[in-house]
Amino acid sequence: MNKQNSTKTLAYDVLIIGSGAAGLSLALSLPKEISVAVLSKTELNEGSTWYAQGGIAAVLDDNDSVESHVSDTLRAGAGLCHKDAVEFTVSNSKKAIQWLVDLGVEFTRREEKGDFHLTREGGHSQRRIIHSADATGKALHTTLLERVSEQQNISLFNHFVAVDLIKQVDPSSKQLRCTGAYVYNREEDRVDSFSSKAVALATGGASKVYLYSSNPDGASGDGIAMAWRAGCRVANMEFNQFHPTCLYHANAKSFLITEAVRGEGGKLRLPNGERFMDNFHELGELAPRDVVARAIDHEMKRLGSDCVYLDISHKSEQFIASHFPTVQENCAKYGIDITKQAIPVVPAAHYTCGGVVVNLNGETDLTNLYAIGEASFTGLHGANRMASNSLLECVVYAHSAAKTISSTIKRIPPIAAIPPWDESRVTNSDEDVVISHNWDELRRFMWDYVGIVRTAKRLERANHRIRLLHKEIHEYYSNYKISSDLVELRNLAAVADLIIRSAEQRKESRGLHYSMDYPQTSSIAQDTILVPENFAGQDIIVQQS
Ligand code: FAD
Ligand code: SIN
Repeated sequence: MNKQNSTKTLAYDVLIIGSGAAGLSLALSLPKEISVAVLSKTELNEGSTWYAQGGIAAVLDDNDSVESHVSDTLRAGAGLCHKDAVEFTVSNSKKAIQWLVDLGVEFTRREEKGDFHLTREGGHSQRRIIHSADATGKALHTTLLERVSEQQNISLFNHFVAVDLIKQVDPSSKQLRCTGAYVYNREEDRVDSFSSKAVALATGGASKVYLYSSNPDGASGDGIAMAWRAGCRVANMEFNQFHPTCLYHANAKSFLITEAVRGEGGKLRLPNGERFMDNFHELGELAPRDVVARAIDHEMKRLGSDCVYLDISHKSEQFIASHFPTVQENCAKYGIDITKQAIPVVPAAHYTCGGVVVNLNGETDLTNLYAIGEASFTGLHGANRMASNSLLECVVYAHSAAKTISSTIKRIPPIAAIPPWDESRVTNSDEDVVISHNWDELRRFMWDYVGIVRTAKRLERANHRIRLLHKEIHEYYSNYKISSDLVELRNLAAVADLIIRSAEQRKESRGLHYSMDYPQTSSIAQDTILVPENFAGQDIIVQQS
């Protein structure tokens, strides 16, 4: 700790960092007598949740079963899923959806029967994705926010950027525990302290570490970096998922074309119109995401083309308008009529399968610190997340964390005074270009050297670059006053380092990690678990099967 004097200390029972599906579901699941603060570093809806399109995977159809959803998830995860986490998540899926329906989330229904329409996505052997047309995240997030704003015990803070977690030793038990966070208040340009008995990281993923990403700008892995600095283990960071189909257009900022387009019959085509996915996998366009992204990357490199094409134009205009209104409208903005022509698409970084190591209750290595949603590593996704399992994970783990917090919070002793944030040794930056330059450089070399296809040499280059950047960013951080860009850059550098180190440790190809130097899959499936030097050591047990 080395920066600004904290000008304000705020105290809550529970501090939730993040206002996406995970954070809001946790806030709503805690008892009403518990005071809760929810932070968002920009607008409340500017996380990945808002942009989710396809839907939420759940066992809802009579012809489906928990066993089938479990087995599809295990297969997509390429041998690395934790079976206990998969079974736990899937067996709670129906309950999670009912909870959302009871809150008022409006899912698409079938016109004929009035029951929920279930769509299909890659890796799923059944139709089991419940959705709100192609804007599921918006429907979900709007409802969660409405319910949260009705609750007196929940306070929302937008434009508050958590910088670092606060750890203190409890005088009676002598145990190290998390007691809050230092938070940069953007509007007041100062660092406040939030003190709380329990803290939950619900900060989303880290896909903005790559130059091209489907994620909103804030996906800079803040929670993962904060937990790592606080002494928590981080696992499987080499498995960053690339979504196969983002709109290829100079001004479209990697707008996602939902996998449900392929689920409803969309075909991938080369520039000459030829289909190619059947050459790569027996499930064709509905192969798991890692396979489809790699196939597209391969074909683009082979042909020297800028993109491939996704074609749904054989479906009726009415079908397209009712199933994919968001995709249709967005493509139209760029002059593409998806009822008549194929959509130019490329892969882009989409989802962080690794994260902060947690158990089935979302507990991390540091006492009273929880991690839920995309920031966490539960073991559910293995080496490749199956489509639409992440929103499900957000809700299921929010519920289990809420249960644990509710049952333990009364026993947690009061928090001692929080040490103030100190900015006495820092000045205003005179060269913000350092931040923008390093940000661009980092995201570009991650894309070029640590992307869909990796080699030992490229990883070594990336490792070299990140060491230099780390040093420069650390010096900058130590000398200049905080800004939200600086906080994000520092965290991006930390997660890039974790990704590179994890990728270098994996001497095989598995799921989303493909190395040309190690193309074989090892017969032993092992997580890459990185242990920080200051390991907080609560010794939570995470099983691997
Ligand atoms: P997010 O929704 O990303 O929220 C993160 C929150 O943390 C934000 O409020 C942010 O402001 C806050 N935050 C971050 N850092 C800080 C900080 N330092 N201080 C304060 N606040 C902070 N998954 C599915 O299951 N189905 C889908 O159909 C689907 N479609 C997707 C489509 C797109 C375009 C994208 C990008 C993702 C999609 N995903 C989908 C993935 C899924 O949306 C995310 O994994 C999920 O929404 C993550 O939720 P979360 O609550 O963990 O984080
Ligand atoms: C999509 O709609 O294709 C995204 C689904 C997901 O990422 O789970």
